[in-house]
Amino acid sequence: MGLKILGIETSCDETAVAVVEDGRRLRSNVISSQVELHAKYGGIVPEVASRQHISDMLPALERALADSGLHLEQIDVVAVTYGPGLAGSLITGLNTAKALSFSLGVPLIGVNHLEGHIYASWLTERDPRDSREPSEEPGFPLACLVASGGHTDLILMEGHGVYKLVGRSRDDAAGEAFDKAARILGLGFPGGPEIQRVSHGAAGDETLPRAWMKDTLDFSFSGVKTALLHMAQAKGLYPFEATPAESAPDNGAAISSSLVRELASAFQESVVDVLTTKLLQMAETYRCRGVVLGGGVTANARLREEVAKRSSLPVIVPPPVLCTDNGAMIAACAYYQYRRGEQFGLELDIDPGLPLG
Ligand code: KG4
Ligand code: ZN
Repeated sequence: MGLKILGIETSCDETAVAVVEDGRRLRSNVISSQVELHAKYGGIVPEVASRQHISDMLPALERALADSGLHLEQIDVVAVTYGPGLAGSLITGLNTAKALSFSLGVPLIGVNHLEGHIYASWLTERDPRDSREPSEEPGFPLACLVASGGHTDLILMEGHGVYKLVGRSRDDAAGEAFDKAARILGLGFPGGPEIQRVSHGAAGDETLPRAWMKDTLDFSFSGVKTALLHMAQAKGLYPFEATPAESAPDNGAAISSSLVRELASAFQESVVDVLTTKLLQMAETYRCRGVVLGGGVTANARLREEVAKRSSLPVIVPPPVLCTDNGAMIAACAYYQYRRGEQFGLELDIDPGLPLG
């Protein structure tokens, strides 16, 4: 058996625990989502999130161990996200990891959440009895897009653990923009999956502007959000009557539902176009050998489709369940940190603003 790493992730609203062997083989992946809890507030409430992590942590840990077929004593390394993220949320994961590391007498590895999103691409979900070598990596440098609720970063990965931040959003993160757009359109939370759902098969006659921000790899998403708001107001959709899209009790609601779908699609296309274009522009500028996607927004089907269609380089993208927050990506990332000798003591503290690159 290889090196078995327990990965713990609590940076936002998911209590996630996983066991990964040798950085690539997923033995278990438990994600306790708080989505329903926060949906009624239309966004994540930090105080509510931190309390929920406390009650979800031990059940998630027990289930991750049971699913992996291992006993706690068989874990070789404990890995945990220590930033960036919500302070009150990070603390629960970090303290759990410290207690486990101390009591088991095994190393503790602190992981940067953004680096974790990149390493989700190293995970292969295949039969644990399959002992073949994992497929070759495309080689470095890699052009990585990490797009989540809090970040939209273009990261040049020059080797394991070697990063340069070459582009970022100057205002809203892409996921945050999806969430706000969904609110404008009267859709639920989180907005990304909702926008994707209602956009599917929409007419596509409306278009929204793209913020190209010339001569930089930086992004801006607040303009397209405002353009969406103005369009929704002009068409009488906003402020909306509480008619959920796709439920069409009468003709008026049917019209507004098809309008919502069209505007959602126009918004999605604008964000996807800019993300794809800048990512591929970066890959060309830095002569990259592959493109990596990570973070909740990269679960988006249109984004995945567009990057795959327009890229001449290999595209490495995790399955959607590993794009959103999970413990497996933390364990995968920690494997490479452990191999290069990184060490963390029990004095490790959370770092809510931890940068990468
Ligand atoms: O990485 P993640 O799970 O948590 C953070 O680290 O923030 O990302 C969550 C974000 C949310 O803003 C959510 O709306 C967005 O990812 N998201 C999506 C999709 N699934 C999740 N955005 C667009 N399309 C999706 N299918
Ligand atoms: Zn994340």
